[in-house]
Amino acid sequence: MNNNIHVIDHPLIKHKLTLLRDKRTSTKEFRDLMREVSMLMGYEVMRDLSTEEVEIETPLETMKSQVLAGKKMCIVSILRAGNGFLDGLLQLAPTACVGHIGLYRDPDTLIPVEYYLKFPEDMGSRSVIVVDPMLATGHTAVAALDRVKDMDVTDVKFLCLLASPEGLQVFQDAHPDVPVYTASIDRELNEHGYILPGIGDAGDRIFGTK
Ligand code: URA
Repeated sequence: MNNNIHVIDHPLIKHKLTLLRDKRTSTKEFRDLMREVSMLMGYEVMRDLSTEEVEIETPLETMKSQVLAGKKMCIVSILRAGNGFLDGLLQLAPTACVGHIGLYRDPDTLIPVEYYLKFPEDMGSRSVIVVDPMLATGHTAVAALDRVKDMDVTDVKFLCLLASPEGLQVFQDAHPDVPVYTASIDRELNEHGYILPGIGDAGDRIFGTK
């Protein structure tokens, strides 16, 4: 694995991740925690955003100070669990636009099948963060990045809550240029493509569907 993988192991994230993993955590708590963790992780993912100097007046004097500059942002959510990251990230970057890509895993082959796609037309000129809480087999993330790159996007990162070693390898083989941000690299995948020890089915836990 190369140094394009960033494990964000801040104590606050570790604590919240433990609560997310716990099967006793309710849907409401899970959603709240996802929003909090995505804000904390987003803070790191957006660390290299460019800024420019502007002149402002404080109540006491004039000064030069920094504001965000450069490319506009786009957050791409891989449906449906990626939506669990949107509230927190949009709180940090309220003017970002949002793209969606719907991919489900065929339960037998675990191969991703695309069923929905809506990206902003000017995505190629934006700074893009693709989000999915689980980088499991890696196939869904690879397929999503393939579609993002079809839009001539060159500035793109992938943000997940958990990654498996197998998924990271698959992703890096396909997209070695795309930095991956995660809160943990878990032990392994099980035979159904779930991450162990993991958090279970992220979509079900966010949306309370099981
Ligand atoms: N998707 C999930 O929601 N959980 C996993 O463990 C793997 C893929």
